[in-house]
Amino acid sequence: MKKLIEQVLDEDKPPGMTPLFRAVNTECALKLKNVFFKYEGAGPTGTQKDRISRLHINLAKSLGYDTVSVATCGNYGASVSYFAYLNRIKSVVAIPSFYAGSRNSEIYENGSDIIVKNMKYEDLVEYIKAKSASENWYNCSPSSENSWIDILGYRQIAYEIVQQIGHAPGYVAVPVGNGTTLAGIYSGFRKLFLSGEIDHVPRFIGSSTNLGNPIVYSWKHGYRQIQTLDAARIIETETNEPLVSFKAFDGQKALNAIYQSKGAAIAVEDSEMIRYSRIIEHTQGINVLPASASALAAAHRYLRSRTYGREVVVVLTGRGHN
Ligand SMILES: Cc1ncc(COP(=O)(O)O)c(C=O)c1O
Repeated sequence: MKKLIEQVLDEDKPPGMTPLFRAVNTECALKLKNVFFKYEGAGPTGTQKDRISRLHINLAKSLGYDTVSVATCGNYGASVSYFAYLNRIKSVVAIPSFYAGSRNSEIYENGSDIIVKNMKYEDLVEYIKAKSASENWYNCSPSSENSWIDILGYRQIAYEIVQQIGHAPGYVAVPVGNGTTLAGIYSGFRKLFLSGEIDHVPRFIGSSTNLGNPIVYSWKHGYRQIQTLDAARIIETETNEPLVSFKAFDGQKALNAIYQSKGAAIAVEDSEMIRYSRIIEHTQGINVLPASASALAAAHRYLRSRTYGREVVVVLTGRGHN
């Protein structure tokens, strides 16, 4: 298995880095210093999910599967279906009916079978887990037996940041839903630190919705153990959908990363996500998904009252108008 994994990762040299650039105009508008954007929206399907979908499809093929499956609110499904199409492997994408529509036509055009269920996302993850086991599908969803590869995929973002800036920044701000992306980036920095390639691990600022996310809830209330929220009390909206959840599948890893790095987790309202996405568009001319602009909103709120010298890298996880 180890050899197979190395092969999947080795063969999978990413096609190119996502851009990282200093956001000078945004700095001026927000009265911040040393702000850099790492624009994951430049990936083929416009979100950071491309990092992990590619690895899953490679692994599925190497293991001899003919079908991959995923439970998703849209972005991850679009990414899995795209890489499945490129690699001529069948894909089944399960979407909660609440979200059906946002990226459905794209998923359909990639040739995926779409299952729409009147379930919450977290329940759909369990449904697809059972279905994949009975149908012998390779499951790309979080908390599956294959999800260990996600951390490896997201580590790449940390490696690129260090290569692009030349050292580790002071802070990294990342939107959190399940927490996988933040946990993976943190793991990448830890690895570089332990091998002596950087002299510190950045502080991590996790941003999420104020309408229900276990990571911001747990951090705000001082819990070291990730909490599960009351499913009936979370509120899903078109804006917060990539981030809202009552159960965060990699929430413990993300929470540990935030505590260990002496960072913070910050809740952001929908209106603020939209406002900051417009600020990014007006100041830097790039279109980002409002949920990803939560990372800038959180970094701004956290840093404006502090004096800090080193760089802040804001990971903009998705492009707008998907
Ligand atoms: C664009 C975007 N940003 C951030 C996230 C949150 O990522 P994670 O679930 O890894 O915390 C998602 C999750 O779907 C997403 O689609």
